[in-house]
Amino acid sequence: MPAMSRLPFLFIVTGIFGFVLFHATSLMSLTGWIGDDIRGPAGWFQVHLFVLGWATMLAMGAVYQLINVILQSNLYSERLGYIHYALFTVGLFGLLFGFIQGDTYWIGGFATIAFSGIVLFVWNMAATLLRAGTWNAITIGTACAVLYLLLTGLSGMAMGINFATGLYNDLHENLFGTHIWLGTLGWFGLLITGFSYKLLPMFYLSHDYPTRLEYVVLGLWNAGVLLGATSFLFGLSAGYKVAALLLIVLAVLCYNVHLLQIRSKRHKRSPGAGIEWTVTGSQIFAIFSVVFAIRALVSPEHLLDTHTVLMVGWVYLSCWVSFTVLGYMSKIVPFLWWTHKYGKQAGRPGTPLLADLLDERKANFGLILILCANLTVLVGLILGSQVVIATGGALLSIVSVAYITLIALVFAH
Ligand code: HEM
Repeated sequence: MPAMSRLPFLFIVTGIFGFVLFHATSLMSLTGWIGDDIRGPAGWFQVHLFVLGWATMLAMGAVYQLINVILQSNLYSERLGYIHYALFTVGLFGLLFGFIQGDTYWIGGFATIAFSGIVLFVWNMAATLLRAGTWNAITIGTACAVLYLLLTGLSGMAMGINFATGLYNDLHENLFGTHIWLGTLGWFGLLITGFSYKLLPMFYLSHDYPTRLEYVVLGLWNAGVLLGATSFLFGLSAGYKVAALLLIVLAVLCYNVHLLQIRSKRHKRSPGAGIEWTVTGSQIFAIFSVVFAIRALVSPEHLLDTHTVLMVGWVYLSCWVSFTVLGYMSKIVPFLWWTHKYGKQAGRPGTPLLADLLDERKANFGLILILCANLTVLVGLILGSQVVIATGGALLSIVSVAYITLIALVFAH
């Protein structure tokens, strides 16, 4: 086995730091950043701390870690990975500072540095994937996800430069919609679905399940991402956005059917609480998606209201993307650390077992509380009640920090 690289740890530990910082700052404002003025310094800061400082940072670490397992070959360049980490982290924290200060020059400048980090990541991934030449729903999904991250960064940087220069104000709103669509649905959506095709069978010990739906999901999801992004970029009518949404909802349903197929062919009774919760989280997400699709068909004119976008954004980013990442972490982090620290002495007396690194019952309890708090915030958003949002948000921040501490303590073994 090749020596384990430190690169994934760097991203994972920084991602945990981003997560804690997000919840600490969110708690200080009693989740007040969610609201009509989300499109201002506090909203930009919190949103990007969450999507870049936490979810993207962690996702990049997971990609560096798992790409070897998926391809059975090494990363194209480890050194490029370290330069990527340095540029992305410096760019991100500078960008966050620029956001909170509302300083357009900082935003434009550091957006460019963060984007150059993303370019190196894409270069490294493209070279790794092309060299291995193994194409399936997992690798194609990863390649598309990484490409959408590049386009998200590009549109983000373009908006940042426009803030500083005002060169193309007419295009700004179109870039804004395209940016959010590509980042949320393109980057996170394709990465989570693609990686789940590898992770779930691994943890459930599933064999001989059909894989056709993986390609159906890949096709539908990509079609939805491309149609939605194009319709925002060129300012097409709402009908295109509804159509794009329906494609994604159809993909979510097929994805859930596929998860059930994987689960029905399992050879392990339970893969652990974290994994079971990610599957339940996807089912809740599917129910919400269908309800939202019906609402969009009945009243398409409300599709882009701030209130609707906040609700959908919450369900998608907090209840699905982040919840899935948290669930997977309960397996990935102990596995990574155990292999790194004890892999060579496995079986010798006194060596801890993988299961000793994390208390399953506590992880289970943590995820239940996180889900309940997430749903409380959602109820607050639906009712438009700042008190419910603040209560749910405060609870979410407290239990989230407790849960991530449990995960981080794995490194103390
Ligand atoms: C280098 C990377 C990125 C840069 C430079 C960047 C830049 C920006 C800028 C300048 C805005 C404000 C636009 C405006 O209000 O007019 C924005 C908004 C937004 N971005 Fe990014 N972004 C990046 C990556 C991402 C990613 C990966 C996501 C993933 C989902 C994302 C999601 C969002 C969302 C949801 C908003 C709306 C937030 C709000 O209005 O408060 N961004 N971004």
